[in-house]
Amino acid sequence: MYGLLRESLFTLDAERAHSVTLEGLRCLERLGVSRLALGSPPRLERRLFGLRFRNPVGLAAGLDKDGIAIAGLAALGFGFIEVGTVTPKPQPGSTKPRLFRLTADQALINRMGFNNLGVEHLVRRIKDVRSRIADDCPIGVNIGKNKDTPNEDAAQDYVMCASRVAEVADYITLNLSSPNTLGLRDLARVESIAPLLAAVKRCVEATPLLVKISPDMADDDLEALAKGLKNWGADGVIATNTTIARPASLTAREQAQQGGLSGAPLFERSYRTITRIAPHLSGLPLIGCGGVRTAKDAQRMTEAGASLVQIYTGLIYEGPQLIHRIVEGLKRSAS
Ligand SMILES: Cc1cc2nc3c(=O)[nH]c(=O)nc-3n(C[C@H](O)[C@H](O)[C@H](O)COP(=O)(O)O)c2cc1C
Repeated sequence: MYGLLRESLFTLDAERAHSVTLEGLRCLERLGVSRLALGSPPRLERRLFGLRFRNPVGLAAGLDKDGIAIAGLAALGFGFIEVGTVTPKPQPGSTKPRLFRLTADQALINRMGFNNLGVEHLVRRIKDVRSRIADDCPIGVNIGKNKDTPNEDAAQDYVMCASRVAEVADYITLNLSSPNTLGLRDLARVESIAPLLAAVKRCVEATPLLVKISPDMADDDLEALAKGLKNWGADGVIATNTTIARPASLTAREQAQQGGLSGAPLFERSYRTITRIAPHLSGLPLIGCGGVRTAKDAQRMTEAGASLVQIYTGLIYEGPQLIHRIVEGLKRSAS
């Protein structure tokens, strides 16, 4: 069924297809369609951060930055939904076009630049929809800094967003890894992240704080980061965001576009990042993200130390049945 829909969506410019899909899901949500004709994936419960997840497959940040279609997305069968990245003030993001399909490579390149309607709008949206989302489908909020906030003041943006979303978010993710906001990745350096996390933790003690990391860090930096995260106040890690690398396997000409690469060619890099950090996390839970498009991919991340996985690009290429296939596959290998 998704094959036909995908064919028509892929005739549209990538960002237009994205907006049409979100609007469609929002309409279905208004009509009260709760299971979107797919049935639910089997239960495969996980408990982490004091939260209950009905299954371990979540939606990665960036697809629903403004919480437009949270209930519609939850109805596709996800075990949790991460919205954002949201910034304190609304901002338009980079100039268009800024999202590109690399269809031959099952990948995307984006340089969206945190286009979003601002934190106040997102808080209202989550409040509106909260009662329609099951308790065992947590909503995470991914936060960032505005483009015009210099890195010296970045902590203020993260603290502001975190304290606003704490009343509606089941967990909060600090995005320190998007390649499309100049200097953002520098905030993940040991000397920057320690005070940043401490400042956020001070104002949102009761909400689990996750840190989303890049797949492009040098091994030494990665290890130092992994070793420090628990002490600095993190409750979990998401590995990874998109990469600025361009693997030699890419064939689509859009590979020349600037931005973060996601999808199939990212998997090995994300997987490697997980294997590098997992032994140093002192038990902090890990969420695997990056190029997951089969149950086997999810299984590999799980074996490397991930308790949950997130998908974005796989959903665009494979459709919502992918959630079901992954949950079913993980359940089979667990039994
Ligand atoms: C169009 C697009 C926008 C994204 N926006 C965000 C974002 O705002 N914040 C974030 O943390 N990650 C963002 N991401 C990264 C994804 O959450 C995910 O980490 C990455 O795409 C790797 O997963 P995937 O290969 O399953 O897509 C974005 C990815 C895409 C493709």
